[in-house]
Amino acid sequence: MQANPGNARMNPRVFRSIARSLDGQPLGPDATPSATRRIGVLTSGGDCAGLNAAIRAIVHRAIVTYQWEVVGIEQSTHGLMTHPPKVRQLRLEDVDGILTAGGTILGTANYGTPFAYPQPDGTVKDVTETILESYQKLGLSALIGIGGDGSLSILRKLALQGNIPFVGIPKTIDNDVGITERSIGFSTAVNIATEAIDRLHFTAASHSRVILVEVMGRDAGHIAISAGIAGGADVILIPEIPYQLDKIAEKINHNQALGKNYSLVVVAEAVRNEDKEAVVNSSAGQGQGRLGGIGQVLAERISEVTGADTRVIVLGHLQRGGTPSPFDRLTASAFGVAAVDLVAQECYDRMVTWQDRQVKDVPLAIAIQDYAAVDLDGTLVKTARGLGICLGD
Ligand code: F6P
Repeated sequence: MQANPGNARMNPRVFRSIARSLDGQPLGPDATPSATRRIGVLTSGGDCAGLNAAIRAIVHRAIVTYQWEVVGIEQSTHGLMTHPPKVRQLRLEDVDGILTAGGTILGTANYGTPFAYPQPDGTVKDVTETILESYQKLGLSALIGIGGDGSLSILRKLALQGNIPFVGIPKTIDNDVGITERSIGFSTAVNIATEAIDRLHFTAASHSRVILVEVMGRDAGHIAISAGIAGGADVILIPEIPYQLDKIAEKINHNQALGKNYSLVVVAEAVRNEDKEAVVNSSAGQGQGRLGGIGQVLAERISEVTGADTRVIVLGHLQRGGTPSPFDRLTASAFGVAAVDLVAQECYDRMVTWQDRQVKDVPLAIAIQDYAAVDLDGTLVKTARGLGICLGD
């Protein structure tokens, strides 16, 4: 994609609205009619490492290359559900030092679709109009949304409904957004899970135990298979491959027969129990059951079948936190720059992707339809099998 500052068009109506926030107050010292365009950015869905690197890249590219203004919308679309909306201007100094920071300076939300938004009385309400009204009042000429497949679908629907020029950036530790080989946050999550597995070898060996490491990933086993191979796990269970308990027991017993007194089992959170049901942690709030607990379920069964002393580690939100890996920073930076360039070229309803060692852009509609599960014929499954790792089948 070529940067094309010449496409940035001056719109006097936008100029006038730039100088005011919704409640009539200036948004900041830079909120003067000096910019040619004003774009919005928001983060949506579960947080992950690298979101701030993407925000920083968007701000740098928009301001330095195109002399635009950037408005950050807080808490995803929730920031547009209030009057005045929760927004803030993002200047270069506002993103200074955030490259290495985990989370998102804008906040995010991963519950409640605007089309049926939960109300305090237990009912749901379509709040689309409120969101679109707030958006229009901000005088934005385009919106960049950083989200996973679910968030990007919602944002696209909103954008189409409100005629909002929209560009998407894929992020999710689950790495399940279609077409792109990498989404922001995945690399860091794999690093964290791998480091955990690395550490567990020693304690497992010291006590002759079977330790199960439960990792996130929602319905996809990308984190499990990547960290499991990288961390030298004995068994990796992913939702894409149904398991049989006796196969897992066989591997653990085989290890013992070979003189290896411990085993490490990596299990993705969406792996089902023996009755083929998802294991859900119903205490997680916001009205949605969250996956979690399969590690414990399997640990008990493995202990029954093999007699092994088992322990369980649920890595949970640790996988989303902390300093982004260099690869996530690179991906996020490249995505941020490319997304702003798409806005400059007025190429909307697109998503930036990582493919064939470079950033490309694809129709958003195709990206969100094309869910990316672990490829059962792919390199990682072949590698795991080639290493003698038990995949439960
Ligand atoms: O989609 C990212 C993710 O971390 C999943 O891997 C996990 O199942 C889910 O979000 C957890 O969501 P929450 O932050 O609401 O507990």
